[in-house]
Amino acid sequence: MPTGENSVVMSCENISKSYPVRKGLFRRVAGQKQIVRGVSFELERGRTLALVGESGCGKTVLLRVLLGIEKNSGGRFLYRGRNTETMSAAEQREMRLKVQMIFQDTLGSFHPRMSVREALEEPLILSGVKSGSERMATIETVLGQVGLSPLYLTRYPHQLSGGQRQRAAIARCLAVAPEIIFADEPISALDVSLQAQVVNMLMDLQDDYQLSILLVAHDLAVVRQIADTIMIMYLGAIVESAPAREIYGDARHPYTQALLQAAPSIKKGLTDENFTVHLKPGDLPDPANPPSGCLFRTRCVRATALCAEAAPAPREVSPKHVVLCHFAQE
Ligand SMILES: Nc1ncnc2c1ncn2[C@@H]1O[C@H](COP(=O)(O)OP(=O)(O)O)[C@@H](O)[C@H]1O
Ligand SMILES: [Mg+2]
Repeated sequence: MPTGENSVVMSCENISKSYPVRKGLFRRVAGQKQIVRGVSFELERGRTLALVGESGCGKTVLLRVLLGIEKNSGGRFLYRGRNTETMSAAEQREMRLKVQMIFQDTLGSFHPRMSVREALEEPLILSGVKSGSERMATIETVLGQVGLSPLYLTRYPHQLSGGQRQRAAIARCLAVAPEIIFADEPISALDVSLQAQVVNMLMDLQDDYQLSILLVAHDLAVVRQIADTIMIMYLGAIVESAPAREIYGDARHPYTQALLQAAPSIKKGLTDENFTVHLKPGDLPDPANPPSGCLFRTRCVRATALCAEAAPAPREVSPKHVVLCHFAQE
C-alpha cells in the first residue's frame, strides 16, 4: 500500500460551515450557528476514512460542503493537491465525476420514473460516453460487480428491495470509475445481514479499484471492519482522530469511549473497565448557543472547572492520534 505525500487524493484544512440564525417577524439575522468547526483531514488512495458521531452533529453538512453543494464558511479543500475554489471549470467537472456519493436514502436518490438502466446510463452520458453499446457494456460490468442480475435493468426504484437499491446506487457510482466515494450512512437503513454484505462488497471494490472512501456513520460498530482511520465528531468538531485500531483499543476522548460503549457488537470484546465512562444524559447542545470552553463538557462525566473556562487544544497523544480534551494524556 502506498504511503506518503503522493497517495493523498483529497485533503481539507480547517473547513467550517455556519448558517445564519433568523428571528422575529422579518426573519432578521440574529446570529450564526456554527455547524462544522475547523475540520481537517487527509484521505489516502485505497483507504477508508470513517466519520462517526451522533445524529445532528454535522456529518452530512460537512459532506455537502466537500461536494460543493453548499459553500463553506472557512478553510480550504484540496483535490489532488489543487484548491477546489480556484480550479478551472474543466477541473471541477472532472472532480465531480471522480468524487461520487452514496446516500442513506436510496429511494430518494433515484428518480422514481427512471428505470435502473436509465439511472445507470445517465452518469455515463454526462461523462461523455457516446456509444450506446459501450455504455451498456459498462452497465453490465458494474451490475455484475455489485451482484445484481441484468434482469433488474428494466425495474423501477420502488420495485427493488432496500438492499437491491443500495447495490444499484453503488453500481451507478462505479459506472464512471470514481476515485473517491463519499458514503453517507449507506447501510443504516438496511437490516443487519445486508449491512455486512454491503460492507464486504465495498471492501472488495476498494481492493479492485484502489478506491478512497469517506464513510459516515453514527455508530462505531458499523465501520469497524472497513475503516483505516476514524474521526469522531461532536457538535461539528473532530474530538478524536486516530488509526482505527487505536480508536477501538486505546480511545482517549470520553465521547469516543461513550460511543464504544453504545456500539452493541463491539461491547462483547471489551472488559468492564472500558465501561466505567458514561455519557451524562441530555441532547446535543444547540449549535447556536454552544457551551463555553470545551464543547463536550456539558455531557462529560470528567468535566472540571477548567473545562468550562478554556477550550482544549488538539493534542497528539501518539503518531496520528489527536485528541481534543484537557485530560487526554491520563
Ligand atoms: N440548511 C441548513 N440551515 C440551517 N441549519 C442546518 C441546515 N442543514 C443542516 N442544519 C443543521 O446542522 C446540524 C447538523 O445536521 P446534519 O449534518 O444533517 O447532521 P448529521 O450528523 O446527522 O448528518 C443540525 O442541527 C441541522 O439542523
Ligand atoms: Mg446525516
